[in-house]
Amino acid sequence: MRVLVTGGAGYIGSHTVVELLLQKQEVVIIDDLSNAKEEVLRRIQTITGKTPIFYRGQVQDEALLTSIFKVHPFDAVIHFAGYKAVGESVEKPLKYFENNLLSTIVLLRVMEQFNVKKLVFSSSATVYGTPTKMPLTEADPIGGTTNPYGATKFMNELIIKDYCVAHPEMAATMLRYFNPIGAHPTGLIGEDPQGIPNNLMPFITQVAIGKRPHLNVFGNDYPTRDGTGIRDYIHVVDLALGHVASLEKMQHAAGYVVYNLGTGKGTSVLELVHAFETANQVSIPLQIQPRRSGDIAENYADCTKSNRELGWVATRTLVDACRDSWKWQSKNPSGYES
Ligand code: UD1
Repeated sequence: MRVLVTGGAGYIGSHTVVELLLQKQEVVIIDDLSNAKEEVLRRIQTITGKTPIFYRGQVQDEALLTSIFKVHPFDAVIHFAGYKAVGESVEKPLKYFENNLLSTIVLLRVMEQFNVKKLVFSSSATVYGTPTKMPLTEADPIGGTTNPYGATKFMNELIIKDYCVAHPEMAATMLRYFNPIGAHPTGLIGEDPQGIPNNLMPFITQVAIGKRPHLNVFGNDYPTRDGTGIRDYIHVVDLALGHVASLEKMQHAAGYVVYNLGTGKGTSVLELVHAFETANQVSIPLQIQPRRSGDIAENYADCTKSNRELGWVATRTLVDACRDSWKWQSKNPSGYES
């Protein structure tokens, strides 16, 4: 299969590219490098022995995208490219709506022009907004998102869904990720946030390496077993393999489908910190802070549907993820700039 991977130089994109190349698929990446480094391509080469074809640019650059489709007869597209910083999206909503929505619209238009009928979209558990019950199934209501980033994930799902109504021959799969953590077990690729990390695991690894003095725990008064927030942390390699399984499934089935990709298990902030300390024999100093605005007490997936229909299951443990995140961070103290 020839696959276009938008945002393929990013955290989840690069891990997915590795798994596709290992399964002998041909991969073309388009990425504007707004939140990624070209060095990742060399690392992918080291892991897989293959260099993906790379175009630097934006998906919504229709002339560029058209020229790429002209050269490569794609069988499928995986669409990761998008801005993803929740806080920044609140400050700059138009930047998020313009980039994250326009890219999908242009992509669908060019796919249509070149008769490409398979699309996997990088969605998020954020589309469930503020849920009222756990675990979350794909049939639970979506919308009520709490920030522009989350709204773009929800709106992109709607755009693709309506497009599929008009084009019943399309196969489109929405993958709703829970909380991706971990890195490739080689320690060669991983999450490389710019500035102060927003998410928990990159913050923990930066404390472990001595870049930050302590971890701020946002709230210990939630109605959870230890008072801290509960999330469903999934190893990024398992997540990547979920994309490979989706592409496989789409070989045989058209239509619009949605899958949760998680482990089905909830882990608290303190449990993750302790797992990290034990797995890596390091100590993570903590300070309890007030709750972070917009956070919910708990969020975890029911993955029955993805397990059953994709024949996929997250097999890597929390300890694997903690070990791999730390291997990546300690081998690359300043990320890809190291
Ligand atoms: C966040 C985004 C979500 C996005 C996801 C991508 C928000 C409100 N939500 O999810 O839209 O899809 O990242 O991975 O930002 N925590 C701390 N200290 C920290 C950082 C986090 O205690 O320094 C806690 C949080 O309160 C939460 C848990 O750790 O309980 C996980 O936080 P985070 O990694 O930011 O993910 P989400 O908030 O679940």
